[in-house]
Amino acid sequence: MAHTYIEEISQYQGEEVTIKGWLYHKTEKGKLRFLMVRDGTGLVQAVVFQKNVKPEVFEAADRVTQESSLIIKGKVRADERAPGGYELDVSELTIFQLAENYPITPKEHGVAFLMDNRHLWLRSSRQTAILRVRSEIIHACRDFLAERRFTLVDTPIFTPAACEGTTTLFETQYFDQKAYLTQSGQLYSEATCMAFGKVYCFGPTFRAEKSKTRRHLMEFWMVEPEIAWAELDDVMALAEELVSYVVQRVLDRKKEELKRLERDTTLLEKIHPPFPRITYHEAFRILQEAGSETPIGSDFGGTDETVIAEKFDLPVMVHRYPVEVKAFYVQPDPQDLSLALCVDVLAPEGYGEIIGGSQRVHDYHLLLQRLESHHLPREAFEWYLDLRKYGTVPHSGFGMGIERVVAWICGLEHVRETIPFPRMLYRIYP
Ligand code: 4AD
Ligand code: MG
Repeated sequence: MAHTYIEEISQYQGEEVTIKGWLYHKTEKGKLRFLMVRDGTGLVQAVVFQKNVKPEVFEAADRVTQESSLIIKGKVRADERAPGGYELDVSELTIFQLAENYPITPKEHGVAFLMDNRHLWLRSSRQTAILRVRSEIIHACRDFLAERRFTLVDTPIFTPAACEGTTTLFETQYFDQKAYLTQSGQLYSEATCMAFGKVYCFGPTFRAEKSKTRRHLMEFWMVEPEIAWAELDDVMALAEELVSYVVQRVLDRKKEELKRLERDTTLLEKIHPPFPRITYHEAFRILQEAGSETPIGSDFGGTDETVIAEKFDLPVMVHRYPVEVKAFYVQPDPQDLSLALCVDVLAPEGYGEIIGGSQRVHDYHLLLQRLESHHLPREAFEWYLDLRKYGTVPHSGFGMGIERVVAWICGLEHVRETIPFPRMLYRIYP
């Protein structure tokens, strides 16, 4: 049977429509039953008036419980007081399935309880708002890169080698061999950019992060552009354009959702290039002035990133970290070989690193040295070394973590709400 989506009912003023959905909420007043119905596209109030319907319809309206699935026929009526501006005058009501006692009620629930019921929690208006923003962010990344003529080239999930250090690898059995779940598609994108020039991969990545923070997941999604002949400055420019495009697109197309999340968008509205650029050493000075005890030469922790980012309204691009704290593939700065040609983009408002990128080592002998000094097995990287034997060129790219961007744009406390089913330390259910 054809039915109408709630988001479209304004087109059917005065007409009879059928909607299919779930009961969100119910109130009653004398001979009236007010059913708040959601269908994924919107919410509408369906009014059942005892005098206008058959006894079994009124009885069903009385009996229907929160989250029961139902089919309603009714006439669309404009009503200023109604959420969305329209109501339905119900003539027929069929309960498809009467829901049992729904565990998530309008009262406050603890996070652990909500996470145990994530499969149901997803139906709440706050969660659907967040995940709609996520969907928009992903589409925005794809559109941005497609407009700039990047080719999407997918990279594998099962890999024989580490990209981002061996301490966070998820090991798995691959028939009679060991394999790892990918930490990043980058190494493969370095191969494909030599075939296509400008590429990106976009997929789930996996890291066995043993620390419990509000910014880390074990499984997260990353968009990773990689460009042949590009140097660090080129990818810094691309990064600030991508971030700005994504933020402005969400502000433009997801106003209702941001309002539902009570997000103050004042700072987001200012997100346009150029972003401030500071070196690792300049960032370190900010930390020292703030009384941080992070030793010089070490990587920044989450708190350090927050302190540095607080100095700016825009995301800040911190470049040229010490070579030792970055991955084996990062090109040293020819001006100062102790520094890496890399960049981290730190989001404002305490959201920390959203992008990590770099120029890659393109020289065969240097790469071989770097693999050795990182104690990485050469056999697993023969194909990667080949790229430096057959027409090597300078090349650069970055990875942007989708969940961190969602958390920032939505103004969320924790990344656990930014992905439908978060994989966290000690949690793989549901
Ligand atoms: O800085 P990372 O480790 O960089 C790379 O993986 C590069 N290979 C990317 C590249 O150059 N193609 O990770 C990139 C981004 C981080 O800035 C962060 O946003 C996100 O991925 N990220 C995580 N997000 C959620 N949970 C985690 N455990 C994350 N680890 C990294
Ligand atoms: Mg990083």
